[in-house]
Amino acid sequence: MKNIELDYSDCLQFINEKDILIAAENGMNHLNRLKSKSGKGNDFLGWLNLPNEVMIETNKIEKAALRLRNSANISVVIGIGGSYLGSKAVIDAFTNPFDNGKINGHQILFAGHHLGEDYLSNMLNYLSGVSFNIIVISKSGTTTEPAIAFRLLKKLLEENIGRKEAIDHIVAITDKNKGALRTLAEEEGYETFVIPDDVGGRFSALTPVGLLPIACAGIDIRQFISGTIEMASVTRDNDTSAKNPALIYAAIRNLLLRKNFNIEMLVNYNPQLHFIAEWWKQLFGESEGKEGRGIFPVSADFTTDLHSLGQYIQDGQRIIFETVLSVDNCNKNLVIPKDERNLDKLNFLSGESVSYVNKKAEEGTIMAHVKGGVPVIKIDLPEINEHVLGQLLYLFEISCATSGYELGVNPFDQPGVEAYKSNMFRLLGKEGY
Ligand code: PA5
Repeated sequence: MKNIELDYSDCLQFINEKDILIAAENGMNHLNRLKSKSGKGNDFLGWLNLPNEVMIETNKIEKAALRLRNSANISVVIGIGGSYLGSKAVIDAFTNPFDNGKINGHQILFAGHHLGEDYLSNMLNYLSGVSFNIIVISKSGTTTEPAIAFRLLKKLLEENIGRKEAIDHIVAITDKNKGALRTLAEEEGYETFVIPDDVGGRFSALTPVGLLPIACAGIDIRQFISGTIEMASVTRDNDTSAKNPALIYAAIRNLLLRKNFNIEMLVNYNPQLHFIAEWWKQLFGESEGKEGRGIFPVSADFTTDLHSLGQYIQDGQRIIFETVLSVDNCNKNLVIPKDERNLDKLNFLSGESVSYVNKKAEEGTIMAHVKGGVPVIKIDLPEINEHVLGQLLYLFEISCATSGYELGVNPFDQPGVEAYKSNMFRLLGKEGY
């Protein structure tokens, strides 16, 4: 199977190859620090070996997923941040939006990732009188957004199918011992999965946090895991920095940052990758953005956003670089038809596929942006499948961790996330705030 490849030729007029290779070699020290657990945040390195360790749990995860798929046609995944973005990213990549959001005959809904009252009311309305499943995910077990959503959805489910019956429709993924969700799950008798102590939310896609919802969507988690194993061998286990795409990517990012390219825009040309970028933003934003440092991660869906952000990218402040998710082959083939009248003058494209036009849009955009002063890193994905997405996520994780070390921060904590929470609790009148 073809692997993901990094193409940085469109960065070379901004930074030179020699500096990239020196920085990547320096990245090897960071990688070794990760592997020897001698860097910052070394209590949170459980994710590093998950590709090789998670297979042990795969049977249990697949069994639970099958049980849920057989119990109802809809599953609601409740979680926020790292407790939902990994599964949302992978599930969205395979969901047909025109099949009522169903994937492999099952509908996966997400809740608890915001406090939008209209959204939750509409969801409760949609699920009224219906049998459904809940996968509730919270490492701390105390996060407000998912806790509120769970309270509402659990009540509705119990009203719909009865309290006793509801027990078999709920799975909780949380800490091994502590937190309100652990207590509730044990008291009620829900099936549970554990989020390991040494894996932080944004690095948890390869734990039951990501894998159970993904399996519940009928997606092949073994292929996904095998992609991460493959990428571990070319990144984590690769001693040749010049051939290590995670170290090269981290090196380029940091060299560009030093040249005041403070914003990285992850760009896709295929809308089903939108949530991969949302996951990536959390990964890099929470890992690097601290102590006044870090690249600000943003994302864009092209060609859509070329008609909104395109002007700024081309001509605005020269502070943006792009990382493009470039997909070689689409899963479908759609040919542009010939039209007798040809009023739109598009007959020169008749017989060509839509993806051919998309590819030319991508190539043309990259040329224009590079000429306009925007460095572009390209990540070539042979196609969008489970194996490739596994590779991609693990590539980003290794790269992010070593890049955080290069910046001198602890990539595995998120102290800044607490600030809004204490204000919110004080404003809500919670005891102790
Ligand atoms: O990366 C993180 O740690 C956060 O984004 C958390 O994933 C998020 O806040 C959800 O936390 P919890 O799983 O404890 O509910």
